[in-house]
Amino acid sequence: MMGMDIDKIMTQMSPRLDTHGLDSRTIRSHLGDCPWRVYLFSEVDSTNTRLKEMAKVGSPAGTVLVADRQTGGRGRLGRSFLSPGGVGVYLSALIRPDCAPTELMHLTCAVAVAMCDAVENAFGFRPGIKWTNDLVVGNKKLGGILTELGLDPKTGRVDYAILGIGINCGQTAEDFDESIRDMAISARMVLGRDADRNRLIAEMVLTLERMDRTLLVSPDAMLGRYRRDCITLGKWVSILRGDEVRHALALDIDAEGGLIVRYDSGEIGTVTSGEVSVRGLYGYI
Ligand code: BTN
Repeated sequence: MMGMDIDKIMTQMSPRLDTHGLDSRTIRSHLGDCPWRVYLFSEVDSTNTRLKEMAKVGSPAGTVLVADRQTGGRGRLGRSFLSPGGVGVYLSALIRPDCAPTELMHLTCAVAVAMCDAVENAFGFRPGIKWTNDLVVGNKKLGGILTELGLDPKTGRVDYAILGIGINCGQTAEDFDESIRDMAISARMVLGRDADRNRLIAEMVLTLERMDRTLLVSPDAMLGRYRRDCITLGKWVSILRGDEVRHALALDIDAEGGLIVRYDSGEIGTVTSGEVSVRGLYGYI
């Protein structure tokens, strides 16, 4: 029954249309003996949404969905994520860590560090991380991460986690919608040449598989790496919570990935992702 459900979800997607050069065999050829399974589609509404459905009916850890384009890409805080074909990488990976949700507070940070590794391995430059989970180069956004957890209703423990990542690869500045052009960048713009999406996808899978194996083993070491990549630390930021805006200096990252800040009133506080949007005082960074 479960197998049939997964087949049904798979056939609702569109594996046979044009993928603009994305190619399952090429991706696989970079993966060596990595046991994860990558399913490539030309178009889906959202790889996160589809993988969540598959997780609920029993797909195994290590299932990865990649789409050339998304018609309903989702971002953090209920925002949409523009996902045109031929230029971006839209990837979701399913993991099933055996733990309580409180042990996964650092998950998004771990994914962000893994994605810095993936971009560096694929393209030779290392992005920074704007807290909590935007990949940035200079003062522009290269990519974003949306992690979603499902709990077992009986035990309250983690049933699945969906790690959704979107990275701008092949865009020129003009390709970005005018609404985001000033704050978006692609790997191609950084490199000054074409950026191989198949290679990046393979590196993302390899670094996520490695991250999954060490996730519950060495969170402190990972957070040390996160602090080094995080460009928000030491900067003045605006913290937007609903209609309220407060200015603060970003001081540190706590053990759960929260941002420790000193407000301009002098008060020290911690902000957690999911509840706030953090912006630089004079723009996106
Ligand atoms: C953000 O920047 O707010 C997060 C963006 C996350 C986008 C990725 S693309 C693959 C996966 N599928 C989605 O619908 N969202 C994530």
